Formats: sequence, structure tokens, C-alpha cells
Amino acid sequence: MKILGIETSCDETAAAVVIDGVKIRSSIIASSLKDHKKYGGIIPEIASRRQLEYINPVVNEALSKARCTLKSIDAIAVTSTPGLMGSLLVGTSFAKALCYACNKTLIEVDHIKAHLYAPFLIEQGLRKKKIPQLPAIGLVVSGGHTSLYHIKSFKNFELLGHTLDDAAGEAYDKVARLLNLGYPGGPIIDKCAQKGQKSDIRFTAAPLPKTYNFSYSGIKTAVLYHKQKNENKADFNINNIAFAFQDSIVNNLTKKAIAACQQKQVNTLVIGGGVAANSALRKKLAQESHKHGINVYFPSLALCMDNAAMIAGFGYHYI
Ligand code: KG4
Ligand code: ZN
Repeated sequence: MKILGIETSCDETAAAVVIDGVKIRSSIIASSLKDHKKYGGIIPEIASRRQLEYINPVVNEALSKARCTLKSIDAIAVTSTPGLMGSLLVGTSFAKALCYACNKTLIEVDHIKAHLYAPFLIEQGLRKKKIPQLPAIGLVVSGGHTSLYHIKSFKNFELLGHTLDDAAGEAYDKVARLLNLGYPGGPIIDKCAQKGQKSDIRFTAAPLPKTYNFSYSGIKTAVLYHKQKNENKADFNINNIAFAFQDSIVNNLTKKAIAACQQKQVNTLVIGGGVAANSALRKKLAQESHKHGINVYFPSLALCMDNAAMIAGFGYHYI
């Protein structure tokens, strides 16, 4: 079965063709990120206007790269929530119009849960990939969300915990902004932290014991206070600040994910979302999972970010 996926929840306009819920035939992504950079964050009005410009060429390219026509597509899956209202409206309207005109089935997909489907996808040229088995614990770490799920089946997700304030990616973006490092902050802080090292600087992500909830607003404020107090000192070191900040976030995410696996007696852990590209998080989760007999699965770097292959693949299970 061939599904065309469409994703327009934020600044990416993406379309993909996925076969039988797993094999990616094409995955095209256009982004308006460069238009937002000077503002230090996504401007919804700009994002939705770019979505309108990009959607038609992106869908056409996804179809032609997969060597198929709209006629040969069995269904269209589209991100319906959550996201920026204007951006979502472009993708859902486009998908509905296509379905109406071409008599196709429309599948509405939840963006957050779809992020956790990325490790289940097989990219072109990668035939011998190990596919995760359900049940699994799923950790979504993106710009807008940090959530932990017990995935019993693709239609049965139990939400174990979520962020009470800033999401992990949001904390990265805000900390990068207050350190004048640019936007998006995740990849920049990741790089700075690799150049930094363990020092006397300590930041603590709220542990929120006995819950699977997350809170990263306090740690962001702690970085701000540290900067205000120390920026004129000779040993003020951005790389070491990035290291300490990242270390705390990564430890907090890892602890909660491993604890959920242990409590639910599940030995499969799947990760998704933009922060899943983080080098320290990948390393720490791999180490701790190995220690506890858990198999951890990350998407490829390309599939960590917003894409339509995860929408088409996940949508297959909802047709
Ligand atoms: O999943 P995504 O593409 O968009 C949402 O659905 O929100 O995630 C974007 C987020 C941004 O906050 C970005 O700073 C973060 O992912 N990010 C990273 C890294 N690469 C992207 N965070 C930490 N380390 C990275 N290497
Ligand atoms: Zn996302």
C-alpha cells in the first residue's frame, strides 16, 4: 500500500511516499527556517505563508521521486495536530482537497506520536535495519514537546508524563538565545558542549521525583543567572556552560526513560524528535540502555527532524 504523507505543522513543508508503512520511497523537505533566524524563533505568519508557496512543488517532487502518480496512491496522511494553526491549515486543506478531487482516503495523524514512528522506518538503501518491537517506551524530545509514552500498539499509546513548562528543544533554543549563540539552539549548544568539559559549573534540571513529567524552565533561568553573575570574569566559558546545561538535560531525560522501561517491564526504547539528534543524548541513552538490557532505537539524523515519512508510515496503521 502506497501512502502519501504531508507534514506542515511548523516551519517545514514536507511530503513523502511510504510503502506498507515502512519503506520510504521519497521524502522531500523544504524549510522556511532561514526566514525566521533573524527573529530568534519561528514567526507563525511567515511560516504559514511559506507553507502556501512550498506545498505544491514539494508534493509534486515527492510523487515524482517515488516514480508514482496521485492516481496510484492509496491514501493521504496529513499532520492534523499539534502545531501552528496557520501552518497546519495549509497542509490539512491541501490534503483534504486532494482527497476530495482524487477520491482518496484521508488519514489524520498526530505529529508527536508520529515522531516516535521514525525509528520504525526503512530508508532507501538500508535493507538490513533492525526494527523495534512493541511494546516499547517512547521518548519524544522536540522543540515543542517532551513526552514519555508506553506504546502498547500503534493505536494504543499511554501517556506517562510530559513537560510542565519548557520542552527540551525549547530550553536549548532559549539558552542559546540568552548566550547569543543563534537559532535553532540545539545543534549549536551540542557543538559548544563537545568543545567544553566538566567544570565547577552545575545546573540541575528539576528531578520531579516519582513522576515522568519534565520541567526545563528553571534550568534555563539558572543559566541566565550564571551568565549575569559571571560574564565579566576572566574564566567565563560558554563551552563549559553548554556542557553543564546539556549534561543535566541529558541525565534527566535518560533517567526518566530508563525508569519507565523498568517500571513497565519493557525492554524496547524508541526516541524521536529534533533533540534525538543530540550527540550526548544518543551516547548516554545507548550506554544506560545497554547497562539495563534495553534495546534503544534512534531515527537517522534526517528523520529526527520534522518530515513527512513518519506521517505516512504512522498513518498506515490508521487507514
Ligand atoms: O522535532 P523538531 O524538528 O520540531 C518540532 O516538532 O518541535 O525539533 C526541533 C528542535 C529545536 O528546538 C532544535 O533546537 C532541536 O530540535 N535540536 C537539537 C539538536 N538538533 C535539533 N537539540 C539538541 N541537540 C541537537 N543536536
Ligand atoms: Zn516535530
